[in-house]
Amino acid sequence: MEFLSVSPESLKRAAEVLRSGGLVAFPTETVYGLGADAYNPAALARIFEAKGRPRFDPLIIHIASSGTLEDAANLSLLNSETRRKLFLLAENLWPGPLSLVLPKSEKIPGIATAGLSTAAFRLPGLVAAVELISLAGGAVAAPSANPFGALSPTRAEHVRDGLGEKADMILDGGPARIGVESTVLDMTSEKIKILRPGGTPKEKIEELIGSVQDGFFTAEDAKNTPKSGFISPGQLKSHYAPRTPLSVFSENDIFNLPWKPGDAFLFFDSPSRNTWFESLSPRPSAKAVIRVLSPSGNTLEAASRLFETLHELDSLKISRIFAQLVPLEGLGEAINDRLRRAAKLG
Ligand code: TXA
Ligand code: MG
Repeated sequence: MEFLSVSPESLKRAAEVLRSGGLVAFPTETVYGLGADAYNPAALARIFEAKGRPRFDPLIIHIASSGTLEDAANLSLLNSETRRKLFLLAENLWPGPLSLVLPKSEKIPGIATAGLSTAAFRLPGLVAAVELISLAGGAVAAPSANPFGALSPTRAEHVRDGLGEKADMILDGGPARIGVESTVLDMTSEKIKILRPGGTPKEKIEELIGSVQDGFFTAEDAKNTPKSGFISPGQLKSHYAPRTPLSVFSENDIFNLPWKPGDAFLFFDSPSRNTWFESLSPRPSAKAVIRVLSPSGNTLEAASRLFETLHELDSLKISRIFAQLVPLEGLGEAINDRLRRAAKLG
């Protein structure tokens, strides 16, 4: 496995690896992806093998320009109203943390989409990623570059630790700017639905195309939808889980937590941490491990530090993490979704 920093030379080299059927882990603005040529079924199969990922789990097709949609998606299956909405979203929110589920064209092999007739497409908001995709032929299928069910990687080192030699190359582009995965929006039926909350807040989507539904079900809901025959992994309870047991709490529960010295606290902002700390009287002699996602209480900053902080806490060999739920503004919904899944609450 080659581990290289992003540069014009390493991007060229990575594109060669992709073109010859190899796997390249690459940075995006959300999390690192494990990429393969989206038109090469054998290369795609290697992604599932490397991640230990069930075959029923479809990949996101990363594209370098919205023009590729004409090739890789079958837009003629959309009605004119949906097409209008698609163009609005693509024009205003791409490049960016938004994956659009659309009917796929014949060119995308079934293994990329778990046999579904639809595929998720995304034009990522990181120049190096777009250059790589373009050099590699225009379409790179990539899930997050972590072993199945584990925390998503926001740094190249996380990929190296999680997947190691299973990737042919890891491109290091530094820490991911956004730090949670893209929002997945299903545009294949009349009712447009968010399948996974993520880096694009719902309000931004609704400003452009009007109201959309929340289609991210709990595991319980998923059991009651036999017709679709398909559960998005975002809907599996244990997804995005750290190894350390984690429970979530809301601000009001903060004073009743049965913590022990050596447990870790993950607070949203400094005021919450301070309130909790001041309530400890008398002060305990042994300390808890304390992290604050965003001292000033900004959900964008909190999202960018979420997985990174969970990776770090995982490495500290503590017995438990107590994580505070965050306000629902901005990326709050995506953060709480990942925290609840980490807590295996579905
Ligand atoms: O930010 C991201 O989206 C990152 C970076 C690498 O782009 N990628 C990522 O991929 O998170 P992955 O494979 O870990 O998650 C893809 C999500 C899954 O929840 C999957 O079920 C959903 O997208 N998805 C993909 N294709 C779909 C389809 N045809 N229908 C419904 N959901 C789909
Ligand atoms: Mg993933």
